[in-house]
Amino acid sequence: MLGKAVEDAMNEQIKNEFFSAYQYLSMAAYCESENLPGFAQWMRTQSQEETEHAMKFYDFILDRNGRVVLHGIEEPVVEFGSPLEVFERALEHEKKVTAMINELYALAVRENDYASQTFLQWFVTEQVEEEKNAGDVVDTLKMIGDKSEALFLLDRELGQRRTEEQPTA
Ligand code: FEO
Repeated sequence: MLGKAVEDAMNEQIKNEFFSAYQYLSMAAYCESENLPGFAQWMRTQSQEETEHAMKFYDFILDRNGRVVLHGIEEPVVEFGSPLEVFERALEHEKKVTAMINELYALAVRENDYASQTFLQWFVTEQVEEEKNAGDVVDTLKMIGDKSEALFLLDRELGQRRTEEQPTA
């Protein structure tokens, strides 16, 4: 059985992960409006992964005989100044999520909840990847500057990103 404190915190994290999905979908919509379909595809894939993260918490709560309680999701940012700003915000967002996951882990330690600690290990590792993915694109965009040909090529490269359920063929 899941303790109340960890259950509440995980329900809060379900909301945070769905907010991430919503924020990345909003970033995808902005990229579409800027005629950057590859950037938009990358963000759409990221949004789908965030929904999967939310559902991992959802299923874990159920597996531990807990009660899933969904909370309201705030509005995402909809306007951005440039593709660089989109990815800078994505990186900042992932840093915040890393802090949330670390707090959740610390709570599971304080509560002597070993099953939750093991479950959260996956997210600790995932956050390293999440920050790296966004950070790599920020670095590339800074190098590109205002070279439109390089931006075009990066857009094509980012458009290759798919989730595991979405074959590239
Ligand atoms: Fe669910 Fe991007 O972390």
